[in-house]
Amino acid sequence: MALTASLLLSGRRVQSPTSSHHRPTTSWTAILVVLACLVCHTMAATADAIEPMETLVMDSRTPLQEGGGWVMLSNDDMELRKMKRAPADPQVTTTFQIAVSTVTQASTTTTVPASPLPSPLDGGLSSNFTSNEEGETPCPGFINSFLTDPLFKQCYPLSLLLQGSRSFFNAEKSLVSITQVLDASCAPNATFCNNYMSDLSKNLTKPENCGNDFALGNSIVRDAYMAMVAYAPLYSVGCLKDPATSMYCYANAITNLSNPSNVYFYYLPLNISLPGSTVPSCSSCLQQTMNVFQAATANRKQPIANTYGSAASQVNTICGPAFVNQTLVSELVVGAGLRSRPLAWTASMVPLLAVLPWLL
Ligand SMILES: *[C@@H]1O[C@H](CO)[C@@H](O)[C@H](O)[C@H]1NC(C)=O
Ligand SMILES: *[C@@H]1O[C@H](CO)[C@@H](O)[C@H](O)[C@H]1NC(C)=O
Ligand SMILES: *[C@@H]1O[C@H](CO)[C@@H](O)[C@H](O)[C@H]1NC(C)=O
Ligand SMILES: *[C@@H]1O[C@H](CO)[C@@H](O)[C@H](O)[C@H]1NC(C)=O
Ligand SMILES: *[C@@H]1O[C@H](CO)[C@@H](O)[C@H](O)[C@H]1NC(C)=O
Ligand SMILES: *[C@@H]1O[C@H](CO)[C@@H](O)[C@H](O)[C@H]1NC(C)=O
Repeated sequence: MALTASLLLSGRRVQSPTSSHHRPTTSWTAILVVLACLVCHTMAATADAIEPMETLVMDSRTPLQEGGGWVMLSNDDMELRKMKRAPADPQVTTTFQIAVSTVTQASTTTTVPASPLPSPLDGGLSSNFTSNEEGETPCPGFINSFLTDPLFKQCYPLSLLLQGSRSFFNAEKSLVSITQVLDASCAPNATFCNNYMSDLSKNLTKPENCGNDFALGNSIVRDAYMAMVAYAPLYSVGCLKDPATSMYCYANAITNLSNPSNVYFYYLPLNISLPGSTVPSCSSCLQQTMNVFQAATANRKQPIANTYGSAASQVNTICGPAFVNQTLVSELVVGAGLRSRPLAWTASMVPLLAVLPWLL
């Protein structure tokens, strides 16, 4: 119980022993019951967040392909291209590349220059945006306005950094700077930020903002939308640390040149399935990450519910049949009547609040 609970209660620091691959079934069930109680009061607010989405077009904008030191994985890339191609629109190029940086491990005595943190969507909004009847192009203005919103900056979502940020890819080359990025994205109140991102995703897809571009499949808008929806699961796994080293799991994955596969898992909440050739390191980080993802599948509207099952089965093929639990947790269906129920009910359960963002 303590093992599972410590995982559930903290997005940042998990101290479960790596040796235990079998979680007690009863404990897990008990936790889920608790989660079920909590989530039904909070889930309604974001339950319809993802409805406008029909197809996902992954488009690696130029920043993803720039920057020295990135290793391109052509087989995986080809698979992803095939999976993500939008047949209706031959003009859309569907390239998606996950690259792994070279490690520039700073010695502990090196002074770190106070460089600004990477920003999301800093590659320029050169995309083809639509005009409305008045001849205005509202979407870039909307994007720029949320990017400068102090609340957005405070939330500093890892999910949006993953979806396209030139400066983030540069930061990933250094263990020091990626750690600073993760410190910043794990610092804010995830419950607040999840609500904020959920609201923002709804605003994004309004016709007066980026709704028309979203409907036309504009890749910047669609990627941003998906990242807003997937804020919570990516917050949770981005803040996990390897219990043996106290290093962020994500920093381990992105700086491990000998095995780039572990990076792919961070794209599962963004509806990007694992390439078939993925051979993960069977680490406790991977196990914790998949446990978080499994819990997040309770909301079937999260893209992770679509990508988890096959990813878990791929993991177990390599790591052993019980390494992660391949079964999606039961769906938590929210009745419309719960929509207006106050969140105050859960606020008294302070330690459990950390759990909520995953499931929204
Ligand atoms: C996720 O991707 C699948 C195809 O892999 C697609 O059918 C589904 O609609 C996508 N879900 C979202 C929310 O975009
Ligand atoms: C821009 O988008 C419009 C509407 O989606 C499309 O008709 C046009 O061909 C696009 N132009 C370019 C250069 O992609
Ligand atoms: C986090 O934000 C939520 C929602 O805004 C709020 O109810 C809660 O009190 C906050 N928690 C902390 C520790 O500030
Ligand atoms: C969404 O739009 C509403 C109405 O314009 C605004 O009040 C709210 O602050 C916006 N939410 C976010 C997260 O930007
Ligand atoms: C990097 O990947 C290799 C191969 O999977 C693994 O043995 C090693 O432990 C990893 N290193 C770190 C620091 O995670
Ligand atoms: C796997 O997860 C499912 C769904 O939550 C649960 O019913 C089952 O007991 C779990 N299996 C194990 C071995 O923990």
